[in-house]
Amino acid sequence: MPSYAYFQQQFVPLAEAKLGIMTNALHYGTAVFEGIRGNWNPEKKQMYIFRLREHYQRLRDGCRVIKIELPHSLDELCQITASLVAMCRFEEDVYIRPLAYKSSQSLGVRLHNLESDFLVLVIPWGPYLDVDKAASCGVSSWRRPDYNVIPPSAKLTGLYINNAFAKTEAIEKGFDEAIMLTPDGHVSEGSGENVFLVAGGKLVTPARDNHILLGITRDTVMKLAKDELGLETVERPVTLDELFTAEECFLTGTAAHITPVGEIDHRPVGKGEVGAITRKLQELYFEIIRGDNPKYIDWCTPVYKK
Ligand SMILES: Cc1ncc(COP(=O)(O)O)c(C=O)c1O
Repeated sequence: MPSYAYFQQQFVPLAEAKLGIMTNALHYGTAVFEGIRGNWNPEKKQMYIFRLREHYQRLRDGCRVIKIELPHSLDELCQITASLVAMCRFEEDVYIRPLAYKSSQSLGVRLHNLESDFLVLVIPWGPYLDVDKAASCGVSSWRRPDYNVIPPSAKLTGLYINNAFAKTEAIEKGFDEAIMLTPDGHVSEGSGENVFLVAGGKLVTPARDNHILLGITRDTVMKLAKDELGLETVERPVTLDELFTAEECFLTGTAAHITPVGEIDHRPVGKGEVGAITRKLQELYFEIIRGDNPKYIDWCTPVYKK
């Protein structure tokens, strides 16, 4: 099945979308990206894009941070993306990658006096981490950058070298994923996920000023926990020993969905298995993202015309 991209204001086959080697963003990480999922529902023969608008709101905020003017409104961005996914006609889960980037063929470290552009591509992409088994995580020696180093609340491509260091360190040490700390040693997030724990019958997750990306899956989980399970989420600084002694722990992210954590730095979390609250949240979440729960259907954008 051929893939397409939206590139330089046109829909083109993915293989034809090529950038020059002088592109500023390639050299200095001067771009903002998003990761969005299209979830295939085989019974309904429909692809549902999950919380599309919220992803573009976050992209727009990131663009403000690095002085990129998007050439499209939020409505247009959503429309372009839905049309692109429809054009690809995949019948499996897909990952959608929008990128707003400093496109000038110009070297020089700066944000000003550079042109920018916007592209989107779609690829088939199954699970990122195994959501059926409890993952093993290692606490990373790489900490999140402070807000006056690189703001970790924006998905800036240059920022992600920090996440790449952490992920590779974790894999090379035999873990599935890294858990990174804030500059002052509190729990922050995974290399591509937010972290939740269950403690004292409540959900706890690092707060917005704990150097995290404000995840859309994080927001989804907090809403579902409250409205469907009657569980409040406390957003606050979390210490490492709290993580080690949690009843349950899980990671959330567009790529990773809701991934249970069974051990951290070789210490079992709870019984080292998928926890009961994690399991309930996973069940709800998977039903919702595939467009099978009418209450939350507004979060899903169907793309195939019937
Ligand atoms: C560093 C980081 N934290 C958290 C997340 C989770 O965010 P979301 O749920 O919006 O995908 C991601 C993924 O985008 C990420 O890259």
